[in-house]
Amino acid sequence: MSASPTSLSLFSELAIGPLRFPNRIVVSPMCQYSAREGVANDWHLQHLMQLAMSGAGLVMVEATAVEARGRITHGCLGLYSDEAEAALARVLQAARAVAAPGTRFGIQLGHAGRKGSADVPWHGGAPLKAGSDAGAPWRCSAPSALPFAPDWDTPEALDEAGIGRLVDAYVDAARRAVRLGFDVIELHCAHGYLLHQFQSPLANRRDDAWGGDAARRDRLALHIAQTLKKHVPSDRVLGARITGTDWAEGGLGPDDAVRLARRLRDLGFGYVCVSSGFVVRGERIPFGPGFQVALAAQVRRQSGITTRAVGGISEPMQAAEIIASGQADQVALARPFLADPRWVWRAAETLGVTPYYPAPYRRAAGLRKPATFDRTQ
Ligand SMILES: Cc1cc2nc3c(=O)[nH]c(=O)nc-3n(C[C@H](O)[C@H](O)[C@H](O)COP(=O)(O)O)c2cc1C
Repeated sequence: MSASPTSLSLFSELAIGPLRFPNRIVVSPMCQYSAREGVANDWHLQHLMQLAMSGAGLVMVEATAVEARGRITHGCLGLYSDEAEAALARVLQAARAVAAPGTRFGIQLGHAGRKGSADVPWHGGAPLKAGSDAGAPWRCSAPSALPFAPDWDTPEALDEAGIGRLVDAYVDAARRAVRLGFDVIELHCAHGYLLHQFQSPLANRRDDAWGGDAARRDRLALHIAQTLKKHVPSDRVLGARITGTDWAEGGLGPDDAVRLARRLRDLGFGYVCVSSGFVVRGERIPFGPGFQVALAAQVRRQSGITTRAVGGISEPMQAAEIIASGQADQVALARPFLADPRWVWRAAETLGVTPYYPAPYRRAAGLRKPATFDRTQ
């Protein structure tokens, strides 16, 4: 098969700020809920090593909490201690050692806000209860004293001092991420976690400088973005995962995403990744192939910032067409990479592009095209 312009677009280089990415494919951040006290271990080692050699242009490390109470579960990664930093250094060094040429590494900095203190998803993800085997609950923070859902604990509304400490925690975690050598640092402003809680009127009922109209609800994410910009050297890329819509009455919509993306662009952020939902229960998310791509396309068109699409992107031609049609500059895949860490090889071979194989795996070349597989080998 010969490569067409459409297929080549997925495998074309991309520059974001000072960095070049060898292709448009991104391993989406994926919580592994497998750390202890925020500290990575051999699970993260194998997870990121196999994804590092996948050939994706960018591998994002999962949502990593900037403080202990900003974790979703007891198993979440953190970057708030020397021990956590050292453990992640080991993982990143090993991943880089086996990575495909040019692969970049990024980390997503997050804070769960009122969605913290939960059990791991494979045990149901419910709020932790005192005395259970799942570990001790902790008091969560949020913009307002409003629980995520009726069966969740009421969080503490952050005061000025609390917001100051939170900003310091982001700066401290970003400094650690820079020291670790991450190319990309991403602010998690989506999925109903703390920065999204501040942005969405469904979770933020404040009437001070951090809530009320849209500008004040955006303020915390933008203040942290601006502060990080001062502390992160200009040879790295800062980006954000933002919310395209809350999929709920009275919540955020695409215009809010465009506004935030424009402001982030003006602050010198390199990209946004457009996701959606999860700030309240009872939302109606139209899950399906590429269900968030139109949101990314609108943000890209109306803000001009480099834009990543994510969600329900699983087929090579689908991914290639999203890039070729100008709907997004990058595509991120999450579950497809868990199911098939060799997804990039399959995409390349499907689209007629020669993928990178680590030398010891070269005899797998072409195996995705049965006609060329010599069974005597
Ligand atoms: C196991 C798992 C963990 C995830 N953890 C994160 C995360 O840490 N940060 C984040 O922004 N999204 C997270 N997500 C959402 C994905 O990054 C992605 O946006 C979503 O799964 C849709 O993409 P997909 O259809 O390719 O799976 C997670 C998804 C999965 C399946």
